[in-house]
Amino acid sequence: MAEAAVSMRAPATALAGRYYTDPDIYEREKRAVHFRTWQYACHQSEIAQPGDYLAFDICGQGLFALRDREGAIRVFHNVCMHRAHELVEGRGNARVLRCPYHAWAYELDGRLRGAPNAEKVQGFDASAICLTEAKVEVFCGFVFVNLDPEAAPMAEWYPDLEHQLRAYVPGIEALRPVLTNAVPEACNWKVSVENYNECYHCRVTHPTFSNGVVDPDMYDIRPQGYCLRHTTVAANLERMTYPVDLSASEHAGQYSSWFLWPGFSFQVYPGGVLNTYLWRPDGVDSVIVYRGWYTPEGVASDVIEGLARQDLDTTVAEDVTIVNSVQRGLGNIGYRPGPLVVDPAFGVNSEHSIQSLVAWTLEALDEG
Ligand code: FES
Ligand SMILES: [Fe+2]
Repeated sequence: MAEAAVSMRAPATALAGRYYTDPDIYEREKRAVHFRTWQYACHQSEIAQPGDYLAFDICGQGLFALRDREGAIRVFHNVCMHRAHELVEGRGNARVLRCPYHAWAYELDGRLRGAPNAEKVQGFDASAICLTEAKVEVFCGFVFVNLDPEAAPMAEWYPDLEHQLRAYVPGIEALRPVLTNAVPEACNWKVSVENYNECYHCRVTHPTFSNGVVDPDMYDIRPQGYCLRHTTVAANLERMTYPVDLSASEHAGQYSSWFLWPGFSFQVYPGGVLNTYLWRPDGVDSVIVYRGWYTPEGVASDVIEGLARQDLDTTVAEDVTIVNSVQRGLGNIGYRPGPLVVDPAFGVNSEHSIQSLVAWTLEALDEG
């Protein structure tokens, strides 16, 4: 009877449409997911000199990354402790951080250095005033931030990631960003992340990727902590759409990506070509996907430019059409969430990875 009960168990289903369309759920997700997880900030080479800073935004929270006098990378909330004006815009270099509103000045380590006329204020204690700093990790040259002061280190969230990534991209520390394409999508961030993390749709919608970059028959996705590790091998090397340097590493003939919940992915194409996905939610039904490309020392490369263009025109464009349609469908009152196609043996035609994403979303919302 017990066995019969198990075999009759209802399959896991997709999330209800409201998780992708309800502004209240999106507001809860900001605190429960995005402000408590590791988020990409910038590449360390973008703030190479002491005083270099770069402003960015995570779901409406203004932040900036900065290189301090000792060369350490810090991330601060982009807000003055006086009356809340933002401190910096865009990118630049500063010896001190001077607020544009009333000229309070902060050291590069966040301490208040001076405030005009503050000496007249009885009890004004400059030493007690400091910018709010967030937790930072520099991971193989990529700067990540977590707005939760209690957050566990990335090595706990994403076990084995560092040594795996270094094995696929031995020269990762020397890489610099050369190209970033911003792709706006009219969908909830989870629609885009879920679409990225299954290849059940690859053969149907991605002919170039499936024929000229990777072999979809070998595609597999495995959870690894809060990471989804994708692996496959190169398509037939004669059919590759770009020259592959098989001596780049022992994994040069393979494809692998590591999706880091909730919104970043390191992706390595055959030949050790590193590229990244970054998802920045921009409202309940809007997300910007940044596709980043890297070369050693940031030297321009026709191969990488060609690959980035091909990726944009094929895989990315194909996915934009899909996710925008799914978002409209999720708002359709006729939608009933369907069963996920979970194959116990995993493989390319399985949606077990969606099960993980659904579980992580619900777990975060329950806790948040
Ligand atoms: S708000 Fe920054 S100095 Fe007043
Ligand atoms: Fe896709």
